Amino acid sequence: MSAPNKSYDPVEVEALKPEEIDRAREQALAAVAAAGDLDELREVKSAHAGDRSPLALANREIGALPPHAKAEAGKRVGQARGAVGKALKIRQEELERERDERVLVEEAVDVTLPYDRTPAGARHPLTTLSERIEDVFTAMGYEVAEGPEVEAEWFNFDALNLGPDHPARTMQDTFFVESPAGEQGGADPESGSGVVLRTHTSPVQIRSLLERELPVYVICPGRVYRTDELDATHTPVFSQVELLAVDEGLTMADLRGTLDHMVRTLFGEGLATRLRPSYFPFTEPSAELDMVCFVCRGDSVHNPERPCRTCSSEGWIELGGCGMVNPRVLRACGVDPERYSGFAFGFGIERMLMFRHSVEDMRDMVEGDARFTRPFGMEI
Ligand code: PHE
Repeated sequence: MSAPNKSYDPVEVEALKPEEIDRAREQALAAVAAAGDLDELREVKSAHAGDRSPLALANREIGALPPHAKAEAGKRVGQARGAVGKALKIRQEELERERDERVLVEEAVDVTLPYDRTPAGARHPLTTLSERIEDVFTAMGYEVAEGPEVEAEWFNFDALNLGPDHPARTMQDTFFVESPAGEQGGADPESGSGVVLRTHTSPVQIRSLLERELPVYVICPGRVYRTDELDATHTPVFSQVELLAVDEGLTMADLRGTLDHMVRTLFGEGLATRLRPSYFPFTEPSAELDMVCFVCRGDSVHNPERPCRTCSSEGWIELGGCGMVNPRVLRACGVDPERYSGFAFGFGIERMLMFRHSVEDMRDMVEGDARFTRPFGMEI
């Protein structure tokens, strides 16, 4: 600011010359008009209307003018500042309105869009089917029993009347597990037997009889292993459900009634079952359980024009093996066969899933593709 000076001529003060004031005013108005958004306008405001703006500096010079010159210079600067202030206010309102309109468009929420774009998964049908079978039996008072998948040979074979020289022992395509001593299938010093991946769920029968109080009613679901190649009808890892009842006075009629009830519950009323003689070392007598095809109900056998894919027009579907528990198995578990008798049934879940739901390729069940599992729904 210049010092007060009596002989001071306002015309000589550069900042207060009318052209300078007009120029500052025009520049300010042009900058206000050019401000494209509120941030730019804030900068324009500080540059052209702030404390260090040309018009504010000019305003400060007025104090140094002689009294007669103050009025005119004050009016000129005041009008210029007023015009700039007004333009700023108008532009501010305009830009705020534009911003509000833009926000309304850009941040609009479309309430009709799907709220969740992550596709829902599904439980594997093998799990649901296996649980459904468990439900049939737990409703009859059975307990669910489980055992290890890496199993001692004694449980998987010996205790089930499949001694070391039994021909049926080699019929089961067994995966042997290297014993801690390093020999393949070598003797485990504690149990006196080697270690295998269990080839069936029957070792859980033995474990249940050894661990539980009699009578025993258990249903044993689980994964089992055999040295099969993976193809449309075989997989080296599959699932079985095993049923075991040991009580006083159980007969083949109890087995038959129990299985009939299971077939009714899983496949519907009015489907006949039959037992075909068979052989398993751990049951005596042994049988295969068949049920009448739940799709064609046996009609396709006499009706060549209407073949049935589910039973290959055989009329019957094989469900699994069963029989009365061999007294030798009971004895191996410390159960007196003179007092107790029992029945057992075992079957594969993959096979049941195949004919129950027309799954044609077993590989679909193990590949883990959600497109396979999802159509089975979310049955819990
Ligand atoms: N464990 C037999 C198998 O895997 C099935 C079975 C179980 C047969 C119980 C009879 C009784 O093939």
